[in-house]
Amino acid sequence: MENARAYRFSSRNEAETGRLAGALAQHADPGSVLALDGDLGAGKTTFSQSFARALGVRAVVNSPTFTIIKEYEGSELPFYHMDVYRLSQEEADELGLDEYFYGSGVTVVEWASLIPDLLPAERLTIYIETGADGERQFCLTPSGERYERWCIGLRENGVLA
Ligand SMILES: Nc1ncnc2c1ncn2[C@@H]1O[C@H](COP(=O)(O)OP(=O)(O)O)[C@@H](O)[C@H]1O
Ligand SMILES: [Mg+2]
Repeated sequence: MENARAYRFSSRNEAETGRLAGALAQHADPGSVLALDGDLGAGKTTFSQSFARALGVRAVVNSPTFTIIKEYEGSELPFYHMDVYRLSQEEADELGLDEYFYGSGVTVVEWASLIPDLLPAERLTIYIETGADGERQFCLTPSGERYERWCIGLRENGVLA
C-alpha cells in the first residue's frame, strides 16, 4: 500500500535541514504532528528551530528537555515543542498530551518513538540518521492521508525523493 512508502531527504548542513523544515512548515495546519527520532545530536532540535522560524515564531526556541513541552506563538498557528526523553507516565497524564496533539497548533515531538502509545495514529514520522561531518539522512514516513499529501507535494516540488 502507498501508506508504507517512505520519503527521503539528504542534508549536508544545518541550512539544508532548514530548507526541509521550511517546506514542511508550509503544509502545517491545526493538529499537525511531527514525530522526530534519531540519536542525540542528530538534529532534532535544529530541525525544530527552523520549523518554528518558518511558522513565524520570533522567540528563541531551545531544547525543552527539562520542561518537556514549550508553547510558542507563530504568525498563524501556535507551535508546541516537546522533548519526551524524560517523560514519565505520571507527567504524561498530568500534561495531557492529547490537548496539544489535537489542539489548534502544530506539534513537533523529539524522541517520539519512546511514547508510541501516546502519539496520535496519524502523524508524520521523521527519522534522522547521522552521517559523516554534517551529513544527515531524513527518512519521512507518513501515517494518514494528510501527511501522505504533504509528502507527495514535497516530492513533486523536488524536495523529497
Ligand atoms: N545537516 C545537519 N542538520 C542539522 N544539524 C546539523 C547538521 N550538520 C551538523 N549539525 C549539527 O548537529 C547538531 C544537532 O544538535 P541537535 O539539533 O541539538 O540534535 P538533537 O536534538 O537531535 O539531539 C547541531 O550542533 C548542529 O549544528
Ligand atoms: Mg534535541
